[in-house]
Amino acid sequence: MALEGESTSPGPSVFRPGDRVLLLDRKGRRYLFTLRPGHTFHTHLGAIAHDNILGRPPGSWVVGGGHSFLALNPTLADYLLEIPRVTQIIYPKDLGAVLVYGDIFPGARVLEAGMGSGALTLALLRAVGPTGTVYSYEVRREFIPRALQNIHAFLPETPHLVVREADVYQGVEERGLDRVVLDVPEPWRALPHVAQALVPGGILLCWLPTVLQVHRLVQALEAHPAFTLIETFEVLQRPWHFSPVSARPVHRMVAHTGFITTARRCTPGKPLPPETPPEEQESHEPQ
Ligand SMILES: C[S@@+](CC[C@H](N)C(=O)[O-])C[C@H]1O[C@@H](n2cnc3c(N)ncnc32)[C@H](O)[C@@H]1O
Repeated sequence: MALEGESTSPGPSVFRPGDRVLLLDRKGRRYLFTLRPGHTFHTHLGAIAHDNILGRPPGSWVVGGGHSFLALNPTLADYLLEIPRVTQIIYPKDLGAVLVYGDIFPGARVLEAGMGSGALTLALLRAVGPTGTVYSYEVRREFIPRALQNIHAFLPETPHLVVREADVYQGVEERGLDRVVLDVPEPWRALPHVAQALVPGGILLCWLPTVLQVHRLVQALEAHPAFTLIETFEVLQRPWHFSPVSARPVHRMVAHTGFITTARRCTPGKPLPPETPPEEQESHEPQ
């Protein structure tokens, strides 16, 4: 059963008052706004009457100021790229990997920290669905209303969201969590609490922007008896340009956002590492 405001279909059959619309002009510029009868949206190409869009199905071409615009119902990725930010957000390219490698499933109990601008929170809320719960920790009280505004503009009803103004380094209230996703600068400081809060076999996923932070986190995870299967990767997305006469990668791409590290909560007591063969002991890597 869908929650109120949480559609099970990909979008409205026709645009109605209160729906968000994404307009694309001929150069691919994007304009996202909420439809209100009698209102007008202004672009530098001209004004578009909301009434021109209301009643039409998503995917329609609409005319304003002598120019054509494509009117679409925004996807989560479209929406997240446009939200007002109080912090850096996790971008759609990384969110996909967070959801799959963090194995966020319908009905899961998931803790995230910090809430920031609410981009990750929204992706988690959609993935756990109405039968799951997202516990969102944020240490900066002033960020929470902005994040909630961003979340509720896309998902008006969120009874499956529990917000805590709290420092995840100081402790985690919940027990029996299926997943923990940390987007805080020093996640290693939360490991003792996360180890107690996760179910056996539960997954911890950390998102970090610099490899120095990742190195420190991996060291801490290795040293902790409750974490194993520690893996780190990054996601590179290279868009391509196609025209009748060329097919090549676009000239510019997002070169770096951050690293994802995952670990499983296991029974304390790691086995001793296997004996290192002599040839590997000569490696140039510091041991
Ligand atoms: C990069 S932002 C998170 C962005 C968020 N994941 C998103 O996609 O919108 C990091 C957030 O973590 C919060 N934070 C930092 N340390 C924290 C802690 N110890 N406990 C809870 N939140 C913390 C910061 O205030 C900030 O809002």
